[in-house]
Amino acid sequence: MKITILTLFPEMVEPFFLSSIMKRAVEKGIIEYRIINFRDWAEGVHAKADDIPYGGGAGMVIMPGPISKALDSIEAKGKRVVFPTPSGKLLTEDYAISLSKEDELVFICGHYEGLDQRVIDEYVTDEISIGDYVLSSGETATIVVIDALYRLIDGVIASESLEDESFSKGLLEYPQYTRPYRYCTKSVPDVLLTGHHSHITQWRCDQRLAKTMQNRPDLLSDASLSIEERKRLLSILDQDKRTCQRWILSEL
Ligand code: ADE
Repeated sequence: MKITILTLFPEMVEPFFLSSIMKRAVEKGIIEYRIINFRDWAEGVHAKADDIPYGGGAGMVIMPGPISKALDSIEAKGKRVVFPTPSGKLLTEDYAISLSKEDELVFICGHYEGLDQRVIDEYVTDEISIGDYVLSSGETATIVVIDALYRLIDGVIASESLEDESFSKGLLEYPQYTRPYRYCTKSVPDVLLTGHHSHITQWRCDQRLAKTMQNRPDLLSDASLSIEERKRLLSILDQDKRTCQRWILSEL
């Protein structure tokens, strides 16, 4: 996949491509990236790339000129052009999967208050929000979007690693443990030491259901659960109810 990032702060983005799993993906040729500073297309002694908003208001808006010229220089029209913004569509795992199937993606990093709407209308195909909060820079949001999608490309990480992780089957991930067996008075759950594959799978499945119910109950209505998993969920709910009843009674 070819990734192009247009930014006023290349130094914020570059390190991501030089470390860890992304570094390996680049070395293997799975990811090709280029980072373009669109200030290079700005004019005047100060190479101004942003200006005050028409109609008044706080902050600065990225001017259409320099960014449009940068986009034209890479023939962005016809490509999938992503603009991370808090007013975009929410990034989900399914959205990341759809982006991971593209051969080429272009990212525009906003900064300050925003990007002139005419640039969005002319070039942007995807306005994406990474969550209901506001960051000070589009660079960090761009890295989040790229991180969520590139790991799904074949060859970047082992496919088994993707199977049980959070959001696969619409559930959160089960807890993980490693050596030592005992740490600060806490031991690893015994079932994980039995070597009994089906018991471990069952335990992990229960943990995923319980964790999702506790942290993200909103996910359960869309999760693809088998009849068996639905029954397990009911019994977890029952156990929770009994624990809750015991607690209420003990407080009376
Ligand atoms: N830029 C600033 N905040 C953002 C957010 N929540 N999502 C995407 N881009 C952003």
